[in-house]
Amino acid sequence: MKQAVAKAAIAHIPAGCIVGVGTGSTANFFIEELGHIKQRIGGAVASSEASAQRLKHLGIPVLDLNSVDELPVYVDGADEITRNLAMIKGGGGALTREKIVAAVARKFVCITDQSKLVDMLGRFPLPLEVLPMARAQVAREITRLGGQPLLRQGFTTDNGNIILDVHHLQIPDPVAFESMLNQIVGVVTNGLFARRGADVLLLGTADGVMTLTAGRHDTKVS
Ligand code: A5P
Repeated sequence: MKQAVAKAAIAHIPAGCIVGVGTGSTANFFIEELGHIKQRIGGAVASSEASAQRLKHLGIPVLDLNSVDELPVYVDGADEITRNLAMIKGGGGALTREKIVAAVARKFVCITDQSKLVDMLGRFPLPLEVLPMARAQVAREITRLGGQPLLRQGFTTDNGNIILDVHHLQIPDPVAFESMLNQIVGVVTNGLFARRGADVLLLGTADGVMTLTAGRHDTKVS
């Protein structure tokens, strides 16, 4: 299913454009597919060092985001996604760069298998990238909000920070919760992608790839 959605995402890549590329096992399938059409794109912007290495290995030029004027499309996976296309991301710890690239992109195409589709976000522990000196303070704030923060052991982000994974959350209003978490001093980024959710979800199912579009209820299976 991951491979099928990665293949389907290629149809969303305009000829000659710079492509925003996500991180994770589904994004890795997409990188493989990009390798097949590398003559047709101008290059890529990566959301992690790991994805940048894979892209370079396939001979795809990797550009600095600051040198790119526009990014027509960003393709990435998710850890959970709702029918409104709000997501939890950051299972791979790349949430900050993912959120920055997604903010620049005109269109966010999310690629997942059907196990990631949920009615309410929160069962997957919500990752927070946190400055190391703020770890205990952020953990106290999160506990006050009813979450259980656990330090991701032995992990440092590409930006030199730590990850707190917040368990036991139910997030009925992801836009509001994302904004609230953004106010906690010491949190670099939270893994809610709701204020800027996906525009299109390519969902891998046993019956084929289903397309869900933000704000619309029509779906098509191909
Ligand atoms: C990486 O930090 C994440 O946001 C990934 O996009 C997410 O964890 C999905 O990963 P998989 O495609 O491996 O499930």
